[in-house]
Amino acid sequence: MTTIAPARASKQQAESHPLSRGIRAFSDYRREVARARAKFAENAFATRILSPGMSAERLELFLIQYSSLGVAMTRPVEGWILRAGKACLAMGMTDLGAALVRHSKHEAGHDELMVRDTHALVQRRHDRGLPLLSADALIARRPGPAARAYIELHEHIIAGPAPWAQIAVEYEIERLAVIYGPSWVKQCKQILGNDILSYLSFVVEHTKLDVGHTHFNEQQLTRFLDEYPDNSAILARAGSAALQAYSDFMDECFERVEAEAAATRDPV
Ligand SMILES: [Fe+2]
Ligand SMILES: [Fe+2]
Repeated sequence: MTTIAPARASKQQAESHPLSRGIRAFSDYRREVARARAKFAENAFATRILSPGMSAERLELFLIQYSSLGVAMTRPVEGWILRAGKACLAMGMTDLGAALVRHSKHEAGHDELMVRDTHALVQRRHDRGLPLLSADALIARRPGPAARAYIELHEHIIAGPAPWAQIAVEYEIERLAVIYGPSWVKQCKQILGNDILSYLSFVVEHTKLDVGHTHFNEQQLTRFLDEYPDNSAILARAGSAALQAYSDFMDECFERVEAEAAATRDPV
């Protein structure tokens, strides 16, 4: 695969103050990604799961779907970031490449949190006398179309001509935990009780961890745009596609809850 080195700053751009150059390009990026961010806020997660009228049963089932189906999307994350970093290093983009390689280690083993949460949430239902679901079978399900699209998007970017766009994917996805994490945790506490937090290690951990990760990603993105200021559109396209795919995944989880409710005719 031929990679395309992004355009470096022109002479005129290079003579402008480096900080303002990066910041200007970063504000272009934010403008270009704004639509996808706004669209995420319209998905079933943001409008239904986080809504005040959400039922405890539906919310709990959503958490089980999210944790179990999320394993297949989370397990490859460390490898994706590492491969993107190595591809950047091979292109001579040493700063971003090294940053991505470094960041990959921070994501190691996060799928295990989702495995643990699936088992714990399933057991929690069983302890209340509800039929025991098989956590292993839930995790082993073939990912749905949205989860597969999310996985394919990463593969496509990393193996494609612009693996450096992975930084925008990381930025947008980890930023979701910063934007939505606190209200998600609050909603779960309010509807399911404070003890639910011990069943949500992935969400709780990421609500904390991804504050630092998002700051790190934003720094890398700004530095990258400082050196290559004409690439905000490519980055915004990658970031927007990742947001769309993750949003579709959240909708997919919600649809499974709805389908389950309809199948059991349970007024959840
Ligand atoms: Fe993570
Ligand atoms: Fe993270």
